[in-house]
Amino acid sequence: MLDVRGLRKAYGDLVAVHEISFSLNAGEVVGLLGPNGAGKTTTVSMIAGLVVPDGGQVLIDGSPLAGDTDPKKQRIGLVPQDLALYDELSALSNLQFFGALYRLSPAVLKTAIDRSLTLVGLADRARDRVGTFSGGMKRRLNLAASLLHDPDILLLDEPTVGVDPQSRNAIFSNLETLKAQGKALLYTTHYMEEVERLADRVVIVDHGRVVAADTLDGLQQYAPTGAGRVSLETIFLALTGRTLRD
Ligand SMILES: Nc1ncnc2c1ncn2[C@@H]1O[C@H](COP(=O)(O)OP(=O)(O)O)[C@@H](O)[C@H]1O
Ligand SMILES: [Mg+2]
Repeated sequence: MLDVRGLRKAYGDLVAVHEISFSLNAGEVVGLLGPNGAGKTTTVSMIAGLVVPDGGQVLIDGSPLAGDTDPKKQRIGLVPQDLALYDELSALSNLQFFGALYRLSPAVLKTAIDRSLTLVGLADRARDRVGTFSGGMKRRLNLAASLLHDPDILLLDEPTVGVDPQSRNAIFSNLETLKAQGKALLYTTHYMEEVERLADRVVIVDHGRVVAADTLDGLQQYAPTGAGRVSLETIFLALTGRTLRD
């Protein structure tokens, strides 16, 4: 469904993304795992059309995405790392605002808002001001906002940062529902436990490059010999000589 081929991006002298390629299929969760500064947000921003790549291509069902105004962009939903919500507005008003950006008709938008709020478990808080929400509730509303136009490719950039364990579990079960609906999910994180729990395949990135890409089982090929089954942390260390938390 989504093919990322040789994406590159430099900010002045700093090469944020050297060369990143991977693919994402319908009904699949791919974890994009790497430490802070690895280039995950830059990669996701290029896929979403927010950052113009210096090189490489993003393809949807085999055809290249041509810039920010390409109608194929509607197939992509982005859950940004930095919350994009208005604290002064209610949850409902926030979603009405984002829905208007997608140019959904009032009837379609109303259905979409009901569906999204129900999925994330916030239907009964629709009229409450977002400023009164917990970190976890804000993250769930951020997810709801990305679903209004019913994208079939969802890019999640560190969607659980700053949430309590209960909200994190709620987000995970929301994502499992979306996966069962056949959506393709790219899940960016520096938490290896999240990837171990959710991902069908993992793309490990470091310093703007893919250092390994495989299923969780397949990644065990990089485990130190004789170590038995090891964590992704150990695999990252074996591949890069550093820990994910450095
Ligand atoms: N707009 C920007 N201008 C300059 N440098 C940037 C910008 N965005 C990201 N970077 C740098 O690019 C590198 C990769 O950043 P980022 O993609 O945010 O990584 P990650 O999301 O994996 O933490 C970092 O060194 C970061 O400081
Ligand atoms: Mg990031």
